[in-house]
Amino acid sequence: MPTTAVHLRLGRPEDARAISLLARRVARRWILPEQSHEAGQALLLRLGTRALRERMREGQRFHLAWLGEVLVGIAAMRGDSHLVHFFVGTRYQGRGIARRLWERAMADAVRRAGTGRFTLNATRCAVPVYRRFGFVPTGPEGFSPSGVLTTPMALETVPARRAKA
Ligand SMILES: CC(C)(COP(=O)(O)OP(=O)(O)OC[C@H]1O[C@@H](n2cnc3c(N)ncnc32)[C@H](O)[C@@H]1OP(=O)(O)O)[C@@H](O)C(=O)NCCC(=O)NCCS
Repeated sequence: MPTTAVHLRLGRPEDARAISLLARRVARRWILPEQSHEAGQALLLRLGTRALRERMREGQRFHLAWLGEVLVGIAAMRGDSHLVHFFVGTRYQGRGIARRLWERAMADAVRRAGTGRFTLNATRCAVPVYRRFGFVPTGPEGFSPSGVLTTPMALETVPARRAKA
């Protein structure tokens, strides 16, 4: 599959069901095994169709990667600065889809808000990927506010407005 066949666009509330299906499937496979039962169930609840639709209506921006009609990747940004969700379908991983989603989500936030610092809470398996994007740990592995075992990470960028000056 050439990565160029993947089309990126912003998610709409009517995409919430497809987002939920993909996110829950990937979370069950890659995230839940290293979490407590309670934290895992709470994460699955936050990835439900209704909850995701609500987050979109509140202004979270969901960047979606599609291969034809199939949703293959999701990057959700809160407040133009915090990457909340990041999932690529298992069979599509390792092909540069996350890189493309991240670059789009970052550019979107910089364009909208001049963001100079991005944050996220990384699951253990995703830490090496975020390091490739330039994120560095800002603290030890521990429990995020939502009870998921993660490593807090941040990326400092040069705000677009200042870069032009
Ligand atoms: C994390 C995830 C989104 C990455 O998606 P992906 O499409 O496989 O990632 P990409 O192929 O775009 O790779 C991105 C970069 O990370 C690198 N990378 C990927 N896996 C890596 C690994 N295990 N170790 C080191 N580097 C790795 C790639 O080489 C690439 O680097 P480059 O762009 O500089 O060449 C995907 O693996 C996933 O959905 N994981 C399960 C869910 C999860 O943990 N999400 C994060 C929640 S915080």
